[in-house]
Amino acid sequence: MVRDVQQPARVPPAVRADPTDDAAFDELLPRALQAKASVHFTPVAVARFAARLLAPEPGMSILDVGAGVGKFCITAALALPGAHFVGVERRPHLVQIAHRLARRWAVPNVRFVHGDAFSLDWSLYDAFYLFNPFAEHMFGDAMAIDETFELEPGAYILHVMAVRQRLSQARLGARLVTYHGFGAPPPPEYDLAGAGSVGSDRVELWIKTRELARERDAGESLA
Ligand SMILES: C[S@@+](CC[C@H](N)C(=O)[O-])C[C@H]1O[C@@H](n2cnc3c(N)ncnc32)[C@H](O)[C@@H]1O
Repeated sequence: MVRDVQQPARVPPAVRADPTDDAAFDELLPRALQAKASVHFTPVAVARFAARLLAPEPGMSILDVGAGVGKFCITAALALPGAHFVGVERRPHLVQIAHRLARRWAVPNVRFVHGDAFSLDWSLYDAFYLFNPFAEHMFGDAMAIDETFELEPGAYILHVMAVRQRLSQARLGARLVTYHGFGAPPPPEYDLAGAGSVGSDRVELWIKTRELARERDAGESLA
């Protein structure tokens, strides 16, 4: 007697459904970056916590200033499928890795842009994520992601001032989430709206609650 036996579907080699933890994400990076991931890239638990603070409603768009290999954006986008995450990164090889990882997990609501964060129009975004993106300039070569970028402490100050100016000009209600800060307090238009200890530091939520014309005018000279 011939029995009709259903063959089990062929299961592709183990591909995790999503980056469930830091090891699952970091093991997909080039070896040199794996060693630096815990210092430079947002831990999964922090990304999930920060995502909920950044985008409490569906449809919101979030800019990750200095996206690295896309760890924050990809993890946050998988956690919040109704929000749109954009990561801007100045190192082209990191953007390539971010594209590859976003494809691997088929993340539809994330996009990566190669370039300087200050060449984008920040007024298009509802929220901003900053994991101390310019710290490399302060700590020098020993702490650098790699040697593809010239580091100078003077650039740190200019970048931090430029962030404050862009945040001042963001739309009313704009949300800012920081992890390890960004080198200065947010501009005076922002109020601290929440905080929690996750990973190795506080995650802070700031919301733009008012317009201050004088501060905006002063900031124009920092563009
Ligand atoms: C600390 S890493 C954070 C990576 C990512 N946000 C995360 O949390 O996983 C900071 C990144 O910012 C990038 N960066 C620094 N200054 C930048 C700028 N002006 N424009 C774009 N990217 C920048 C660096 O190359 C680095 O990859």
